[in-house]
Amino acid sequence: MKKILTGLKPTGDLTLGNYIGAISQMVKLQDEYESFVFVADLHALTTYQNPDELRQRIRKFIAMYIACGIDPKKNTIYIQSENEYLGNISYLLECSTTYGEASRMIQFKEKSKQNANFSVGLLTYPILMASDILYCDTDLVPVGIDQKQHVELARNIAERFNNKYGYTFKLPEPFINSNGQKINDLKYPDKKMSKSEENPNGVISLFDSVEDVKSKIKKATTDSLNNIHYDKENQPGISNLLNIASILDNASIEELENRFKGKGYGEFKSYVADVVGNFIEKIQAKYNEIINSKELDEILDAGIKKSRELAREKYELMKERMGLIR
Ligand code: TYM
Repeated sequence: MKKILTGLKPTGDLTLGNYIGAISQMVKLQDEYESFVFVADLHALTTYQNPDELRQRIRKFIAMYIACGIDPKKNTIYIQSENEYLGNISYLLECSTTYGEASRMIQFKEKSKQNANFSVGLLTYPILMASDILYCDTDLVPVGIDQKQHVELARNIAERFNNKYGYTFKLPEPFINSNGQKINDLKYPDKKMSKSEENPNGVISLFDSVEDVKSKIKKATTDSLNNIHYDKENQPGISNLLNIASILDNASIEELENRFKGKGYGEFKSYVADVVGNFIEKIQAKYNEIINSKELDEILDAGIKKSRELAREKYELMKERMGLIR
């Protein structure tokens, strides 16, 4: 059975962008693939995280994954930092990655510009991500478009390692949903919806109240063309709302364009607000049932056991290939 894997970084509350770009893809594919989902808590540490908040957020992420439909019976669910082999594998992969390659990553270039005192972890971040992906022979990595370059880097590193030391890693591929590859901020629809955004008005957190969600959608930035039409360039706000509704309501963009032909933005926004509001209500009800259950720890214990075993095997194989044996 082929494998899929994805991880999300607990630097803020999960957003609708995270759900559409990554989680919902995993939910769709979990019946056909052996699936791995984790909380990328080590990746959160490239910037300072308040330890108490981080600890709580990690648990919230896991409960929210399950509430969103990630089935613990079909997925290996775990916390990245509980698998100590990943850091070891990452170092060995760093030695097959050039500095030029790592420093050309778009996210590194953008984030290192924003803060002159960026950590070395920001540079090595995609190599740890390669370790996350390669240790268990992942075939497909469902992600949003912003992570595509990192998955491609993982593939390049794997290929180089295989060429140097003999076949060790499967070559992974990114898996990107065409509509949901990038959900944008509701206030600034040219910008990605991001969990670390300081202004919460354009970001839908999966933990927002239904009222807040509806009000954010009703206040979303649109345009003056008054035509419900998918045109990212000239109507980024309306196109973004079309994307969101299309995925959550399981309707094609064309279907929605036809349904709202000649109707005003108010009516369209009310519809989108209801679709997203109903979705949030449903997942939060499930989340509230799970968050304090003992079952959550049992799921994580089983997940980390399997993940560690696979990573240990891969680490031993890498060491053997590289001559790190007595
Ligand atoms: P992170 O936490 O920034 O984002 C998690 C996932 O959500 C997707 N995403 C979006 N998709 C559509 N629209 C958006 N507005 C949006 N915002 C975020 C991201 O593309 C991603 O798929 N480095 C990764 C975490 C990671 C990982 C991995 C992912 C660590 N190791 C191995 C896959 C495989 C990250 O920071 O994602």
